[in-house]
Amino acid sequence: MKLNQILSAEIEQAFTAAGISGSPIVLQPAKNPDFGDFQINGVMGAAKQSKQNPRELAQKVADALSGSRVVASAEVAGPGFINLRLSPEFLAQELNHALTSGNLGIQAASAPQTVVIDYSSPNLAKEMHVGHLRSSIIGDSIARILSALGHKVIRQNHVGDWGTQFGMLVAYMVEQQKENSDFKLSDLEQFYRAAKVRFDEDPAFADTAREYVVKLQGGDEAVLALWKQFVAISLSHAQQVYDTLGLLLAPEDVAGESQYNNDLQNVVDDLCAQGLAVDDKGAKVVFLEEFKNKEGEAAAFIVQKQGGGFLYASTDLACLRYRIGCLKADRLLYVVDTRQDLHFKQLFATSRKAGYLPENVSAEFIGFGTMMGKDGKPFKTRSGDTVKLVDLLAEAVQRATVLVRSKNPELSDTEAEHIGRTVGIGAVKYADLSKNRGSDYVFDWDNMLSFEGNTAPYLQYAYTRIQSIFRKAGEWNVQAALLLQDGLEKQLAVELLKFEDILNSAAESAYPHYLAAYLYQLATLFSRFYEACPILKAEGALRDSRLQLANLTAQTLKTGLDLLGIDTLAVM
Ligand code: ARG
Repeated sequence: MKLNQILSAEIEQAFTAAGISGSPIVLQPAKNPDFGDFQINGVMGAAKQSKQNPRELAQKVADALSGSRVVASAEVAGPGFINLRLSPEFLAQELNHALTSGNLGIQAASAPQTVVIDYSSPNLAKEMHVGHLRSSIIGDSIARILSALGHKVIRQNHVGDWGTQFGMLVAYMVEQQKENSDFKLSDLEQFYRAAKVRFDEDPAFADTAREYVVKLQGGDEAVLALWKQFVAISLSHAQQVYDTLGLLLAPEDVAGESQYNNDLQNVVDDLCAQGLAVDDKGAKVVFLEEFKNKEGEAAAFIVQKQGGGFLYASTDLACLRYRIGCLKADRLLYVVDTRQDLHFKQLFATSRKAGYLPENVSAEFIGFGTMMGKDGKPFKTRSGDTVKLVDLLAEAVQRATVLVRSKNPELSDTEAEHIGRTVGIGAVKYADLSKNRGSDYVFDWDNMLSFEGNTAPYLQYAYTRIQSIFRKAGEWNVQAALLLQDGLEKQLAVELLKFEDILNSAAESAYPHYLAAYLYQLATLFSRFYEACPILKAEGALRDSRLQLANLTAQTLKTGLDLLGIDTLAVM
């Protein structure tokens, strides 16, 4: 049920009845619920255009709305606003639909798309860092929301599994394996550093490493097998993080850079043949007039290096063609650090010009800011190293378990561990997803683990609290009609019905924080309702009706949190 759509249609009719057509309808949730549920703000603009008195026009629209099945009252206020109150019967009917439809009444998209979403995408030579944590969490939530709306979602983990550094790493692996037969790669970061030291210090080792690069690129079976072994170990490190986070990303979603190797020369040749790429001191470059640097020179998108080597850009061009040509994408999403904004602008512009990216396919850069420490600098360990994500997540679970235990000392060890895990992981994810992804944010344990404010523990607890109401409720009529008399009952009803609109805007904009903000608002409103309107102490039909509201609130919170990738608990 799309509340906005229903309301907009009603309002449009009223505007037409008042002699105005085609003017944009500005509908906003009321700032003060004492005056209504929604406010129509579009009248003043329309009045100006049609040279009418805004209050008179507003009155005409309000009169036309008064007969609608959706509206209980429409009152003109101020210079020409209209305060709308929705009809309790209409609200009850829609809530009833949401309760009985099985999926909260969410309609599948009328034109389902194939959406290819590129997220996580760490570089396999090193340990995954916090930037990939953000990409993983944000991408996973967007994927869930799109699937819930009926789109076909194809996840692509564009891991960095190719490049000259792999020659060095494989050479070092061979050396280590020789020295230590049961060698295990437990820390990629350390391994990379140690390999680099050998590379810098020992010319013979450096030669072997370079030889391996050539062999790797030439498709030498033996070296390729070693490379595969390294990639597999590194991927298993990443998968460990995904599993701990409860992400939907699976090994079969991995489509690394190396997958496009055979197509890179084709792309470059094609761009040259089209006259888009030109020779610039031996390199092949696409000059893009639309992106000028400070000196006013066209930005250079280098697609092949001097000497023939390929780059990140060449791979992304081939990859984009694959996603459209083979995966049949209608929409491409790239969840990547905002610092890569220019790369993607150039990628999309070049692809449009080359005809790889047709008009009817949208390509969107879903950028995110940097995760900062409390000191306001990019998040690092105390010694200045990158933080190992497994350690970070283990710390989250450990902190949350201590917290949960202190709140509820009666919990058994297994219970405390389970709840601690759910709260700890939920807290890390929610702290990220509740912020506008475009901005930087400060990673702060105390904030994210607080049971007050816009946090995962607060929302998880709100859900659990409703579950405990139902444990105490005993028998009740699950088919009871909704009675919406109290102001807070109605406000909660209106809020519940916004869920689908919120999902749609989160899906369109790829902003999961819209959903997070909504869930927080819903939980807050529920707790105000719960204080003002007794549930279990109410009687008969009223008690049943309030239990219905509690039930739908719980289901909405659970579904919403699930779409953020956050689990709920029956007890906490
Ligand atoms: N591996 C890259 C990095 O860590 C991110 C890849 C994003 N996806 C892409 N198609 N370029 O910076």
